[in-house]
Amino acid sequence: MGLSLRFFTFMHLVSSLLIFHLAIAHFTSSMQPHTLCHDQDRSALLKFIESLTINRNASRNPLSYPKVASWNQDEQNSDCCSWDGIKCDEDTGHVIGLNLSSSWLYGSINSSSSLFQLVHLEWLALADNHFNFSVIPSEIVNLSRLTRLSLSGSFFAGQIPAELLELSRLEVLDLSSNDHHLKLQSPVPPTLANFKSSLHGEIPTEIFQLPNLRLLELAYNSNLTGHLSEFQKNNSLELLNVAYSGFSGKIPNSIENLKSLSHLYLPRCYFSGKIPPSLGNLTKLAHLFLWGNGFSGELPTSIGNLASLEILAISSCNFSGAVPASSLRNLTQLTALIIGKNNFSSLSSRSLSWIADLKKLTILDLESSKIVGEVPPALMNLTQLTQLSLAFNHQLTANQLEGSIPSSFFELKNLVELELAGNKLSGTLDINKFLLNMKSLEVLVLSSNKLSLLTEATVNTYSKNINVIGLRSCNLTEFPHFLYNQKFLDSVDLSSNRIAGQVPGWFLNNVLVHVMTTQPLKLPKTSGHSMPL
Ligand SMILES: *[C@@H]1O[C@H](CO)[C@@H](O)[C@H](O)[C@H]1NC(C)=O
Ligand SMILES: *[C@@H]1O[C@H](CO)[C@@H](O)[C@H](O)[C@H]1NC(C)=O
Ligand SMILES: *[C@@H]1O[C@H](CO)[C@@H](O)[C@H](O)[C@H]1NC(C)=O
Ligand SMILES: *[C@@H]1O[C@H](CO)[C@@H](O)[C@H](O)[C@H]1NC(C)=O
Ligand SMILES: *[C@@H]1O[C@H](CO)[C@@H](O)[C@H](O)[C@H]1NC(C)=O
Ligand SMILES: *[C@@H]1O[C@H](CO)[C@@H](O)[C@H](O)[C@H]1NC(C)=O
Ligand SMILES: *[C@@H]1O[C@H](CO)[C@@H](O)[C@H](O)[C@H]1NC(C)=O
Ligand SMILES: *[C@@H]1O[C@H](CO)[C@@H](O)[C@H](O)[C@H]1NC(C)=O
Ligand SMILES: *[C@@H]1O[C@H](CO)[C@@H](O)[C@H](O)[C@H]1NC(C)=O
Ligand SMILES: *[C@@H]1O[C@H](CO)[C@@H](O)[C@H](O)[C@H]1NC(C)=O
Ligand SMILES: *[C@@H]1O[C@H](CO)[C@@H](O)[C@H](O)[C@H]1NC(C)=O
Ligand SMILES: *[C@@H]1O[C@H](CO)[C@@H](O)[C@H](O)[C@H]1NC(C)=O
Repeated sequence: MGLSLRFFTFMHLVSSLLIFHLAIAHFTSSMQPHTLCHDQDRSALLKFIESLTINRNASRNPLSYPKVASWNQDEQNSDCCSWDGIKCDEDTGHVIGLNLSSSWLYGSINSSSSLFQLVHLEWLALADNHFNFSVIPSEIVNLSRLTRLSLSGSFFAGQIPAELLELSRLEVLDLSSNDHHLKLQSPVPPTLANFKSSLHGEIPTEIFQLPNLRLLELAYNSNLTGHLSEFQKNNSLELLNVAYSGFSGKIPNSIENLKSLSHLYLPRCYFSGKIPPSLGNLTKLAHLFLWGNGFSGELPTSIGNLASLEILAISSCNFSGAVPASSLRNLTQLTALIIGKNNFSSLSSRSLSWIADLKKLTILDLESSKIVGEVPPALMNLTQLTQLSLAFNHQLTANQLEGSIPSSFFELKNLVELELAGNKLSGTLDINKFLLNMKSLEVLVLSSNKLSLLTEATVNTYSKNINVIGLRSCNLTEFPHFLYNQKFLDSVDLSSNRIAGQVPGWFLNNVLVHVMTTQPLKLPKTSGHSMPL
């Protein structure tokens, strides 16, 4: 749970960082004292705004503000080229850029909106407003010079108009249903419930033939269906994001034609079939997110040619065959390798020695990967690791790591999340000593092994940032004292231990108060407890 949640956040972060770097070059309103705006542009802008209302609730970005509040109709400031969010062409004076993202705009837009009279627009950004489930009017075709269109997180609904395909200059098209630009500011990952946009219907595959399209963002439109079409040779796509949408079908062989592709996000869709070996031709690919689909078959060995790959996230699919070690060990730029919860054949922990070559790894997910043997010694070479999961998932075959947790784990000082649940690890672990050495830990799940934890009270100098603690079946005889000072607990599992007697007062007062508001608390089932729940 911890891993997937964090991973979700992480994915947003990388995708939004990318958008910042690639999409939003320099789109700021600028003072242009020498160009006065055209009357018809000013009047179209004002009519557009008059058809809407200003409502604080329409934007979710905490830094949002009503840009149009400073727009002025009086003589002193009638030059619309100087208004917030507007950019005019320096020579012609026509409005060529309109950025009213996060501007508290609320109301419907229909085909007679004066927005479509701004025919010189090259950039239009209306993200993070609330357009009351309006259908995107087909009059969008009037804005034939558009190179960038961003309507993300702005509550449009209905079918995407076919006329969009006529905007042949489009380089950036962002119709994601949440505004991912917000993620940089918000520490809270979005829940699907937030994605209220209901764009639906089938995206015409011709969209991939827009000759200049570099960035296509369609994420979080769960009712928007589509397929990846045959890609043409001269395709310019650099980023394709259909995460959490209704896209399905196979990855076509012609994916090899996306020579510029650096970021491919297909997670949590309905894709299936084998990964074509031609994927290995995408030598610029840095992020490959395929997790949560119905892909099957073996991973093509050509994946070892993806020399630029930094994130490989293919967990929760149905890949089978052997983990292609000789290919994966080639991917030395990898910072995240997320391959758990597949159907790969069983492997011995010794055979994972290649993983020590991936020196940049910070995230390693080998959950439910049928690993047999001791804790893989090669892991101890991965000193950059912050998240490590060797746990199991109830629906799937467990890993079967055995032996004790080696003290060389203490080398992994950057670990923030460690999930080892559901193995056969044994021996005695001094949890206090462990936490003393692993000062960054926030998530520690050791549940359901054959471990016996020592929890004697010591000086309180261990990590105080524990967020998730899972110590089910750890042969505990008392409430672990290290919980005493934890202020950020979300989830505590102490079930199936040998703790008896009253719940200590410090636990009720210091621990319970933090946990109760968030996740359920799992306490040992023994007769002596009186829990005020
Ligand atoms: C639009 O303006 C906002 C600030 O209000 C800025 O954060 C955002 O990057 C701009 N969007 C584009 C596409 O330039
Ligand atoms: C469009 O919306 C305006 C109000 O903004 C309304 O006056 C007009 O009747 C609507 N036109 C159509 C065709 O729905
Ligand atoms: C914004 O939402 C809050 C809570 O739902 C509501 O109380 C408030 O009236 C809304 N504000 C406006 C301007 O609609
Ligand atoms: C929002 O849409 C509903 C249904 O189409 C309509 O009745 C309502 O007037 C609209 N509200 C605004 C503020 O445009
Ligand atoms: C679209 O542009 C044409 C001129 O090219 C104009 O006559 C028409 O009114 C525009 N449509 C809208 C809805 O603004
Ligand atoms: C998707 O469509 C279903 C059925 O039409 C609807 O109930 C659901 O609310 C839609 N989901 C979103 C996110 O719009
Ligand atoms: C891509 O190729 C097609 C035909 O193969 C051509 O019509 C189109 O103009 C080309 N686009 C670019 C951007 O070169
Ligand atoms: C992909 O790589 C294979 C083998 O290296 C090569 O034969 C093929 O021409 C490449 N495809 C493209 C489109 O470059
Ligand atoms: C490793 O990468 C190089 C180029 O980066 C490539 O030539 C080689 O075939 C790859 N090896 C494997 C096993 O994928
Ligand atoms: C996974 O793949 C296997 C074949 O390798 C197949 O038998 C099985 O039905 C697939 N499972 C799912 C859930 O697609
Ligand atoms: C892993 O670490 C061990 C001990 O520090 C070292 O001997 C070995 O060479 C390392 N392996 C790699 C591949 O770096
Ligand atoms: C559980 O801990 C007790 C000491 O408290 C020890 O005697 C016993 O062997 C442990 N059980 C297991 C399965 O490790």
